[in-house]
Amino acid sequence: MKDTLRQTAADITAEAFGLLMADLKTDRPELYIFHPEQLYDKLEIPKDPKMGNYALPLFDLAKILKQNPIALNKQLAERQNLIIGAHDNYAHLKFEAVGGFNNTRIRIETLAQFTLRQIGNNAREYGSSDLGKGKSIVIDFSSPNIAKPFGVGHLRSTAIGNSLYRIHKKLGYTVIGINHLGDWGTQFGKMIVAYRKWGDERLLMADPVRNLYDLYVRFHKEEKENQTLTDEGREAFKALEDGDDAAVALWQKFKDYSLAYFQKVYDRLGVHFDYNTGESFYNDKMNAVIDRLQKAGLTEISEGALIVPLAEFGLPACLLRRADGATLYATRDLAGILYRAESYHFEKALYVVNTGQRDHFKQVFKVIELLEKAEMVPLEKAIAPRLVHVEFGWIKFADAVMSTRVGNIIFLEEVLDKAVSLAKAKILEKNPDLKEIDKIADQIGIGAVIFADLSTRKEKDVNFDWDKVLNFEGETGPYLQYTHARLSSLLRHYAKEKPTEINYTLLAHAEEERVIELLYKFPLVVEEGADSCEPYIIVSYLLELASAFNKVYQRKDNQGRIDKIISDNFELTEARMALVRAVRTVMNEGLYLLGLEAPNEM
Ligand code: ARG
Repeated sequence: MKDTLRQTAADITAEAFGLLMADLKTDRPELYIFHPEQLYDKLEIPKDPKMGNYALPLFDLAKILKQNPIALNKQLAERQNLIIGAHDNYAHLKFEAVGGFNNTRIRIETLAQFTLRQIGNNAREYGSSDLGKGKSIVIDFSSPNIAKPFGVGHLRSTAIGNSLYRIHKKLGYTVIGINHLGDWGTQFGKMIVAYRKWGDERLLMADPVRNLYDLYVRFHKEEKENQTLTDEGREAFKALEDGDDAAVALWQKFKDYSLAYFQKVYDRLGVHFDYNTGESFYNDKMNAVIDRLQKAGLTEISEGALIVPLAEFGLPACLLRRADGATLYATRDLAGILYRAESYHFEKALYVVNTGQRDHFKQVFKVIELLEKAEMVPLEKAIAPRLVHVEFGWIKFADAVMSTRVGNIIFLEEVLDKAVSLAKAKILEKNPDLKEIDKIADQIGIGAVIFADLSTRKEKDVNFDWDKVLNFEGETGPYLQYTHARLSSLLRHYAKEKPTEINYTLLAHAEEERVIELLYKFPLVVEEGADSCEPYIIVSYLLELASAFNKVYQRKDNQGRIDKIISDNFELTEARMALVRAVRTVMNEGLYLLGLEAPNEM
């Protein structure tokens, strides 16, 4: 969606640069950057609304022109305003030179009309674009280790990945969501041994994942005292890799039970994957990559194992095959990269995985880079530069009871259950007559957990605090959902008399202006979220929008009375309700992009 207001600002600026160039008697070929298209992309949205609707930083341009940026800015603004003065249909714009920033200000009525009409016409499609048309993005996210309960450790990857999935879809990308399940590796050898020693089919059927987990914990405990267990586990995994029927059948059983269980959790979270291809999917694809690496002369044998040495890059060697022939996590990721590149021709492949695996991804990406260099793959075809580790910090629970469980895993289901029951208690206290209480408690409780995960910049740790995440007044998911429900309720209660032409000049208070500016900005916020792979950008935007709207809602007139949105003044009410409708639409879509439901009542 091209923003025509922004385009006009870019056009005028290009024209003004043209005049300026003529006056400066410069015509150098590199000045192509002053074309409207380039300027359109260079316009930024200032954080501080006082700086106008757009800012064009002039520092780079001034350098090219060998001019002082401040002086250049003054001259530029003079010419921009001259052009405006000469055209009636540019009257809604104004340019200001502030230091090295050339700021554009759009007259508020124009901005209001433009924005509210766009939102009205496009509804939740507002902010969508075809920026990513014809490009695919692979997102590897969630990716828990199966035959283990879903622990909170994989919650952030699930929440961040799901949000990035939705954000990129909105921008027109073909998005391929992959759950790279940990369904292969030595731990499955251990599971097989544990099950053969202590397992029981009936227990397994009754509560499969809990039972598998208990076996896993027991194995690890006994392994500490009994070294032979480790060897037995390794042998069992070897048998599995060699396709031993009995081992494969057991593994398949663990896998089927686990997947059914994981699917239930994903359904609760509203998370969808295009492929549930776990590590085992690459079993028959690893030889090919190992061959290529060997042919490229990148491998070495070290203590019987096949490795790619990476010391010169300050990294530990990448282990491809152990001395006993078993393959590794990294080998499967290497095979996965080549498979995905070939199958999806991705523009980018994002790996949404905790910072703890930084070295792993550095190694794996480096190996692909070395392979492509050795094979002399031209840069524009190379895969390595398209691989991105989207890393994030830990989630910490202050909740002592939950964090001291045996095996030190906090079960995600328990967290979700607790959140839902707390949400239900809140609803019963605030709005006991609400219909479908259980459904809405689900939406709020689960939304609160997801939101808590996204509510700090991803590289920071999350401190999960039960007193905070469900607070309807704090900076929480429920607070945004509540704002949305309140907007919905206003719309329900407003019985429209007759359709009218909206008089946008009536939205003239500073509080309303702020909301309009924020609404106008939404499409760019979505792009920024995608560019930086950071759902938090949407989080902070929605919090700002909610707080700006609440200021409109609570605004007092000069007698100190609340200036109600719905009043006897029909024309005024219509204009304000147009604003309400637009904020609700954007709030609804914003919550969706984060992976939250937006109930109409709560
Ligand atoms: N299963 C891994 C873990 O829990 C995460 C997998 C991430 N994705 C990948 N392609 N390596 O640590």
